Amino acid sequence: MTKPWSAEDIPDLSGKHALVTGANSGIGLEAARELARHGARVTLACRSEERGAEAARDIARDAPSADLEVSRLDLADLGSVQRLAQQVSQPIDLLINNAGIMAIPRLTTVDGFEMQLGTNHLGHFALTLRLLPLLVRAMDRGAPRVVTVSSQAHRLGKLSREDLQLERRYHKWLAYGQSKLANLLFMRGLADRLEQRGLSILSVACHPGYAATQLAAVGPAMEGARVMGWLTEVGGAVVAQSAAQGALPTLYAAVAQGVASREYIGPGGPFQMRGAPVKVRPNRAARDAEAADWLWDTSERLTGVSFVEALESQA
Ligand SMILES: NC(=O)c1ccc[n+]([C@@H]2O[C@H](COP(=O)([O-])OP(=O)(O)OC[C@H]3O[C@@H](n4cnc5c(N)ncnc54)[C@H](OP(=O)(O)O)[C@@H]3O)[C@@H](O)[C@H]2O)c1
Repeated sequence: MTKPWSAEDIPDLSGKHALVTGANSGIGLEAARELARHGARVTLACRSEERGAEAARDIARDAPSADLEVSRLDLADLGSVQRLAQQVSQPIDLLINNAGIMAIPRLTTVDGFEMQLGTNHLGHFALTLRLLPLLVRAMDRGAPRVVTVSSQAHRLGKLSREDLQLERRYHKWLAYGQSKLANLLFMRGLADRLEQRGLSILSVACHPGYAATQLAAVGPAMEGARVMGWLTEVGGAVVAQSAAQGALPTLYAAVAQGVASREYIGPGGPFQMRGAPVKVRPNRAARDAEAADWLWDTSERLTGVSFVEALESQA
């Protein structure tokens, strides 16, 4: 039997540059830690510079020679996304689209998008396109990868074409499901466009199963639902795998040999809730090429960022 893939299998990443969104907590923090421990220069793109700096200190305790930079990024603000992209100047080998929020009451981003779609999908969409020139520049030292973190909850999701911002009917879990389905459709849309242009950048996705992080606590805290928050914490402690284990599918997608564009990595245990990372299959809605194109065009229109213009800005 082959040995399950683990963080020990991460190759030497010296000379590589990774940018991880939401790197101050949970899966992003653990992924950033392992990338840094294996020699990558890591940009921790965090909503709060203070929390980002604390995460950098935490990682440096494990990896004293880690090469870390903290940059402010609020995915719920397209202006912040643009500012971050202008600040980063080094080629990017690994872009980890990890940050996320789950099942919160209906709110809107600075630009008026429903908050879960705006943060989890549209913010990452704009970020990836704005960073595309830096991914292209890293192509001369290997095949850069864009890893987008989705969820089993994509199965709950439906692309609400008539009411994408869920203004008419909002349900916090269906909104999360839509945003995580959008992550997978984006991953495919990006893979298609990169291939059409002959660019050797991989676009892959992953999900962590069920990992004990802050994610499930945010929604109840916003609603003032203390008992639900407590139950979530206890459930997480009893059932979930650790954040470090939850980061393994992300790390596998980012650095393992033999990963191809459009592949989806998740835990191999029962119901994909836990276990070592393996290739898994998203549902049919997430493999719908026409839906991926519709979402792509809609996302370009909503964010004002386009794939073709992003590439032309490289030339
Ligand atoms: N944990 C699980 O079981 C699970 C299951 C399926 C999928 N996932 C996915 O895994 C990813 C990571 O989640 P996690 O479990 O590690 O949760 P987490 O511990 O709550 O971490 C989420 C990260 O996203 C950041 N973030 C939230 N809104 C942001 C914004 N507007 N701009 C920039 N950063 C923002 C958070 O920053 P702050 O600290 O500033 O809030 C935090 O760093 C998410 O995409 C999530 O959907 C997790």
